Amino acid sequence: MNTIELRDAFGLENLHPAERPMPDRPAPGKVLLRMHAASLNFRDLLMVRGHYNPRQPLPLVPCSDGVGEVVALGDGVEGVKLGSRVTPTFAQAWPAGEPSKDVGRSTLGGPLDGALSGWMEVSPQGIVEVPEHLSHVEAACLPCAGVTAWSALAVHDTLRAGDTLLVLGTGGVSIFALQFANILGVRTIVTSSSDEKLARARELGAWQTINYREAPAWAKTVREMTDGRGVDHVLEVGGAGTLAQSLDAVRHGGQVSLIGVLSGVSSDTNILPVLMKQIRVQGIFVGSRAAHAAMSRAIAQHELKPVVDKVFPLADSRQALEHMAGGGHFGKICIEHEG
Ligand SMILES: NC(=O)c1ccc[n+]([C@@H]2O[C@H](COP(=O)([O-])OP(=O)(O)OC[C@H]3O[C@@H](n4cnc5c(N)ncnc54)[C@H](OP(=O)(O)O)[C@@H]3O)[C@@H](O)[C@H]2O)c1
Repeated sequence: MNTIELRDAFGLENLHPAERPMPDRPAPGKVLLRMHAASLNFRDLLMVRGHYNPRQPLPLVPCSDGVGEVVALGDGVEGVKLGSRVTPTFAQAWPAGEPSKDVGRSTLGGPLDGALSGWMEVSPQGIVEVPEHLSHVEAACLPCAGVTAWSALAVHDTLRAGDTLLVLGTGGVSIFALQFANILGVRTIVTSSSDEKLARARELGAWQTINYREAPAWAKTVREMTDGRGVDHVLEVGGAGTLAQSLDAVRHGGQVSLIGVLSGVSSDTNILPVLMKQIRVQGIFVGSRAAHAAMSRAIAQHELKPVVDKVFPLADSRQALEHMAGGGHFGKICIEHEG
């Protein structure tokens, strides 16, 4: 068994072990990777449950994020080193700049096969070398959660050193954002349902923390913490259930990066604050290869290490996704391949 696949129906119970023999050579124009590790994103859970794209053809190898070693080059491939350690980019067809229609059709872990496999065949334009100081498991955390946080803060940013960022919850994207804010000189307010997780966020450098269960009107607390001004930027991963408070928590002229749907996708949120406060609402869809490469350079320069919550063997991928569904994690959940 070297692969976990969703075979003929959606649902965690329909994840099956499989043997997919590794080819000797990749197709022309492709590179072959022997995979070492993968990491989970909330999207993978939605995908496996059939909630992300109910029309996704099956079978599918889930999970967008992984790390592997280049073991063979297809005809015509140049500029890729055999033996180099790389992460495939979340979107295989997004080199730089604005996204095109093709971007959504080129994402790993749906519609394309993903990283819960011992090998992957990918485009040479869809890989980025991994910072040397990272373990396989740490490197596997970068492509989706890392690049999403980086895109919000460092590509579509309005942030400057000394500014204040609000991140919601302590999942993969939010903890990366806290770590990137630290290296950008930005102070961070973190919310969580758990005091224990908030203590860990403070250890990681959070400036202020709020338990959103104990303080359901957390936007008011955020305004009090910022002397009534509001934060410069909100990393909005909550979606329908949190957007109204995020618009309330951000300052006049600030930015809300719309990223997640943890509490749903539709609501009757009042949009007046967007115009009255001239808020910049920026949708984020992970990011390009150029953003991924820039993030990797920053991670290498600062020797930043992704926060890994728990590592599961490939055979226990279902348990790993169940762990994510339980919401007890802090940072990233990872999968390790044998050997
Ligand atoms: N647009 C994009 O490109 C993109 C990329 C990556 C992820 N996403 C989306 O971003 C969201 C987060 O993804 P992820 O992979 O980081 O997820 P994750 O690791 O599973 O994070 C989940 C955490 O978010 C917190 N949370 C849950 N419900 C919340 C709520 N109502 N208000 C505030 N915090 C809440 C919880 O933290 P506590 O336990 O601390 O409360 C939970 O543990 C998902 O909706 C995902 O689909 C979008």
